Amino acid sequence: MQSPVANSLDHFWMPFTSNREFKAEPRLVTRSEGMYCWDYKGGKILDGSSGLFCCAAGHGRPEIAKAVHDQLLANDYTAPFGLGHPGSFELARKVAALCPEEINRVFFVNSGSESIDTALKIAMAYHRARGEGQRLRFVSRERAYHGVNIGGVSLSGMVRNRETFSGVIPNVVCMRHTWLEENRYTRGQPERGAELADDLQRFVETYGGSTIAACFVEPIAGSTGVLVPPKGYLERLRQICDANGILLVFDEVICGFGRLGTPFAAQAFGVTPDVMTMAKALTNGAQPMGAVAVKDEIYDTIMNAAPENAIEFFHGYTYSGHPAACAAGLAAQEIYEREGLFERAAELSDYFLDAVFDLRDLDVITDIRGYGLLAGFDVKSSGKPGARGTRLQKQLFWNGLHIKFTGDAGILAPSFVAERSHIDEMVGVIRRTLQEEN
Ligand SMILES: Cc1ncc(COP(=O)(O)O)c(C=O)c1O
Repeated sequence: MQSPVANSLDHFWMPFTSNREFKAEPRLVTRSEGMYCWDYKGGKILDGSSGLFCCAAGHGRPEIAKAVHDQLLANDYTAPFGLGHPGSFELARKVAALCPEEINRVFFVNSGSESIDTALKIAMAYHRARGEGQRLRFVSRERAYHGVNIGGVSLSGMVRNRETFSGVIPNVVCMRHTWLEENRYTRGQPERGAELADDLQRFVETYGGSTIAACFVEPIAGSTGVLVPPKGYLERLRQICDANGILLVFDEVICGFGRLGTPFAAQAFGVTPDVMTMAKALTNGAQPMGAVAVKDEIYDTIMNAAPENAIEFFHGYTYSGHPAACAAGLAAQEIYEREGLFERAAELSDYFLDAVFDLRDLDVITDIRGYGLLAGFDVKSSGKPGARGTRLQKQLFWNGLHIKFTGDAGILAPSFVAERSHIDEMVGVIRRTLQEEN
């Protein structure tokens, strides 16, 4: 056997990355703290995306590190099937307290992708338990991102994520996305487009409402460039779901835990779904963890359909509610509460959106959208779609800023501990980099 080579980049197959390009010019991060991270050469990089929408309270929070450390020494692992440990119950209670009133039951998973697959199964189990097991069709949306597991990919509305793996779950139909030319440069919720929700009504009329189990939407489609729902759109989806016994699932993996200035998008937009999926900022990104929260009625229906003493839901992961992840989650939630970070996100939003919308004068930018501490901007394609975005993301990094790009859309999501000076710095680097490029 070959002995391992120190610092070799050969063996790790990187996710969602051009491996060959990275390995030729590694953007290798070795330290992170607060709003910044540092690369292996000592370069300081402002994190404009909270990692990947995870580190709402900034990087390197010692309270979280200590909680995980202490937990691992006290009880590192408890089998989650048939046994329990206090942390999972306590974190579930905290998460439920942040959810809309009717949503009080929380199932833990290890990622956003697992939360989606779990939500699909909960929807199937719920309908079967209430004698409607024929509801096996799911509705999602173009330009949706629901993670990469088989269920999430099936719901996804992003061509590159599905074309290799297409058809994995049959019976998924996509509504149109909500980006409209006439809504360009809208800050907050666009006025036009609520009628796009009637695509769901068309599916009801085409396939029969009684065949549809659930409609999955990100309240704000995040990964495809921050598509804020038009006014009245989510309300309309809610009405159609109610009229037809369809579960409404909000994928809150990005929006959840304060990104929009409220605990969840459900509260920001005043629409209560039946099921919410979440991950990322649940633990401030310090441990992999996700969750699915459901209305009491869903939990009760599934419980009551099973015989006494029987397992009610045949689903769960070895690491569901891992003690270290729960400890990180509890510590993160305590920080959010103690430092009033959701309120801080709400307060900073105007300054943030003003700064991002000021980029409008740059010719290369063709649209800007935003809500809370989440904003997206599109740049004109040059060459193949996405080529400019990929190039820009690299240039921004070497100029001292990390943000997410999907295709030619840049996505900004700073931590809630950001100061106004960080926002200025972020937007300044974007302006300079876009100007240098031209
Ligand atoms: C809305 C949404 N759902 C699901 C996921 C998948 O989460 P994960 O990468 O933790 O599996 C993401 C990830 O960005 C997401 O944005």
